[in-house]
Parts: sequence; C-alpha cells; structure tokens
Amino acid sequence: MAETSSVRITCTAPVNIAIIKYWGKRDEELILPLNSSLSISLHQDQLKSTTTAVASPAFSEDKLWLNGQEKSVQESRLQALLHEVRRRAAKRPLEDVQREEEVVESVNSEHRLAPPSWHVHISSKNNFPTGAGLASSASGYACLAFTLAQLFGVRGELSGIARRGSGSACRSMYGGVVRWTHGEQADGADSIAVQVIPESYWPELRVFILVVSDLQKAVSSSEGMRRSVATSRLLQHRATVLVPELLRKAEAAVKAHDFPAFSQLAMCDSNQLHAICLDTHPPIFYLNDTSRQIMRLVHAYNQACAEIRAGYTFDAGPNAFVLTTARDASKLLGLIAHFFPPQTSNSKRYIRGLPLTTDPPSLE
Ligand code: DP6
Repeated sequence: MAETSSVRITCTAPVNIAIIKYWGKRDEELILPLNSSLSISLHQDQLKSTTTAVASPAFSEDKLWLNGQEKSVQESRLQALLHEVRRRAAKRPLEDVQREEEVVESVNSEHRLAPPSWHVHISSKNNFPTGAGLASSASGYACLAFTLAQLFGVRGELSGIARRGSGSACRSMYGGVVRWTHGEQADGADSIAVQVIPESYWPELRVFILVVSDLQKAVSSSEGMRRSVATSRLLQHRATVLVPELLRKAEAAVKAHDFPAFSQLAMCDSNQLHAICLDTHPPIFYLNDTSRQIMRLVHAYNQACAEIRAGYTFDAGPNAFVLTTARDASKLLGLIAHFFPPQTSNSKRYIRGLPLTTDPPSLE
C-alpha cells in the first residue's frame, strides 16, 4: 500500500548572497528582521541545495537526512516550517485539492499531492560546504519549503514559509535581485521576499566565491545577531537610519546597471556589518587575515583601474564574495589565483565565477 500511494518530489534552490545584509531580529520565534535586506541569487549550475521529500500513509513519523546523515526533526525551526506548510495545506478546500490532483495527475502521473496528515521523509543535500558562511541554511530551507509546498499542494506566497527555517532563506525563493521587506505586522504576514529585478536583467554581473575556510563558524549568524541586538548601539542606528538609504541606492544602482555604485554600496554594507560585530559585546570576529588581504586586493585593483570594477561582501564568516562584471572577470581571477594560490597555509583558493542566476527554486 505504501509503495503505491506514496508521493515523492525533488526540487532544487539557489544560494543567495546578501548585498545589503540582514542582521538582527525583532521577533526570534517568527524570524522577523529589524531591517530589510537585498540579495542576488546565484546560478544553480554550481551551488545549490537539492531536496527530495516522500510522503506516505505508511510512515509513522517525519524523518530528515542532511547530506546523507540522519538528523533530529525536533529542531524548533524545522518543526515551525513543517507546521506552517501543513497549516496552509490543511486550509485548502478539499474539492480544490481533488481538482488539482486530477489536473496534475493527468499531466504527470508521478506528481500527485499528499494530504497534510501524512508523514514525510526528507533528504536534503548541498553540493558545497554546509555551515561555513556559504549561505547553506538559506538555500537549504528555501528548498525544503518549496519542496514541501509542492508535495502538499500549498500555493501562493511561499517565502514566509522558508523564513521560518532561516531568515535569509526567504530570499532564495526567487532568482535575480531579491528584497526581503522587514514588514510591520506582528504576525509577520508582510515580512516577505519579492523579486526586484529579474535574473536576466544584468547578465554581465559575476560573483566569485573565495573559500577561505570551509570549517563551521564558531559563532552562528543567529547567535551573533542576538548578541548584536542586545549590545550594539551601532546596530540600532544602522537598522533604522542607514539601511533604508543603502537599500534605496542599491536598488537604483542595479536598475541603472551602475556597477561602481552597486559595488561600492555592497562593500560599505559589508564593512558596516563587521563593524557592528566589533561593536558587539563580547565582539565577534568573522573575518580573518586572508579575508582582509582579499579586501586589500580588491581596493588595489580598483585603484589601478582608476574606477570601481570589483567589490566584495562577507557574511558571518571569512569567505569572500567578490563582485565584478564579465569584462574584468578573467583578469581578476588571474590576480586572485596569483595572490591566493591553492591550499597555501590555512587558506583555500577561490572557487567559481557565477553569473547571476536564472533559477528560482524548481522541480527537478
Ligand atoms: C550575515 O539567515 O543565517 O548572512 O535567520 O537566524 O537563520 P537566521 O540567520 P541567517 O543570517 C544571515 C546573516 C547574513 C546576512 C544575510 O544573509 O542577509
């Protein structure tokens, strides 16, 4: 019985790189941010999360495997996400579900909908290091939210589901340039991600990911921002005064294809985030010497070009995201390869040049 009536779906979701960072929550449980943020989603050719979910009346409990290892499903964010998907699925009128089942079945007999009461077995994989500041939680939770929504037939705005797993995950629900609006409502209904610019809009944009360390970070983003909210006055000023202006300017720069302005704003915002980490008590150090050398190289390159042709941004870890355009990509890569050869001392060399994605989450 289980074999014939189980429903299985596999989806993928992109990594997103924050250009204007989310740092600080106003509600820990609902994961509501203090400030809006802006990101670019990367092409799924190289970095992505893939999730397969199977629902069956024969399963007696939910189960999860992450990169092949079984994990507890009791983790509170995972529970919140599962609960939110099932809550929305249960609200759908039965006739609606049945009608849709017929339609979907006639198109693809593999793709049926599962009733929300069925348990799920989930397998999620990243094709890049997990928990090392490469936004694995973002693509991972976005992929999970999207996959479960397909499985249970939840339609409409889905970024609010992904947000329950990890704040930045809501931005991986779209390709292109994405804004997560902080929202005003206490229940978080207006704290959702929206696509600002479609993926095809700025095809010359490139992001290099320089993996300085693929070790798990010592202070998680969640813990780091909790500490900053409690102790940094700089954070309050940034969230209310600086970010709205940065966001407005960054969106205008993208729309105008103004790389120097865009890149300058990204560097400024990243440095602000790490200034807040230093202003946090006790201070948090995400960047290391290699990170700072990369920053110096980017500034030296821009100085030599007499204009801004490269930028950087760092999340809660030492790894660099170097921004540039197709015109400068190979020259910059050559310089990076020269100054940061593979496996020198404790550092790892850069990996890939990634164009702006064309890929929102998708069914495989
Ligand atoms: C520095 O989304 O990982 O990457 O919501 O607590 O799971 P939680 O935090 P998370 O934080 C990301 C922080 C950041 C900036 C960003 O992506 O905007």
